[in-house]
Amino acid sequence: MNAMVESVFRSREVECLVAGVSVSDGAGVKLFRVLTADLQGRLDPFLMLDEFRSDDPDDYLAGFPSHPHRGFETVTYMLAGRMRHRDNAGHEGLLTAGGVQWMTAGRGIVHSELPEQEDGLMHGFQLWVNLPARDKLTAPDYRDIPAEAIPGYVADNGVTVKVIAGESDGVIGAVQREATAPLYLDIDLPPGAVYSVAIPTGHNAFVYVYQGRVDLGQRGRRVEARQLAVLSNAPEAEGVLLRGPDGARLLLIAGRPLREPIVQWGPFVMNRREEIETALADYRDGRF
Ligand code: FE2
Repeated sequence: MNAMVESVFRSREVECLVAGVSVSDGAGVKLFRVLTADLQGRLDPFLMLDEFRSDDPDDYLAGFPSHPHRGFETVTYMLAGRMRHRDNAGHEGLLTAGGVQWMTAGRGIVHSELPEQEDGLMHGFQLWVNLPARDKLTAPDYRDIPAEAIPGYVADNGVTVKVIAGESDGVIGAVQREATAPLYLDIDLPPGAVYSVAIPTGHNAFVYVYQGRVDLGQRGRRVEARQLAVLSNAPEAEGVLLRGPDGARLLLIAGRPLREPIVQWGPFVMNRREEIETALADYRDGRF
């Protein structure tokens, strides 16, 4: 879709704007937590989104030494820098600028994520996508997708879109998931660009602006850099209308809600408390 349909395109609007929080995780890595735990219900199936962006090695050098996950998927998207992944299922990979790592923790994985640089900019995102109850104990899986293998397109108004997951404007993304049908787009809006993006009806959706600012929806609600906009779920809306008066870069993320109970204990996300206790015991006793 393009600017020509702007006048008739039925857009989702901003339901609310959320400011993230600065946190420290792993062995002391400074992060900006964009999607916090209190949004897990509203933005089901998404559990967390962190942005890491620093050119101070003290903020990232310690990395994320060996730690477990169970019950969901982690999606790491690098914009700058290099990160080495190793896990107990024998996978190893180097994540570089523009690349994506899609890891299904399933019944359990123990991995480390360590920077492979001693200076310079490290910038990227980690998204947690929930698994349906029936898949929480599935076999762990891991995929490294280098930048050149991520499909994308440039619209006639100069808007650049990378399709990490799902489908946009007929372009099939690098990853497809049946239960949650995630749409994960990285969109670069040149100054003055107007762009409309289709989003499946019923998907929960949000936009995170990581550079510049965006006027969103027919109402043109301003979303500043480092703000997350929760999008309304109006059934008649076809997607979302974006305007970048001064240019912007943003993530558009949407997914089909699972509507199942969410019980999180740190790196384990299950449906019931007893399943968390089982996860803790399994990890402690080396069954991951
Ligand atoms: Fe991890």
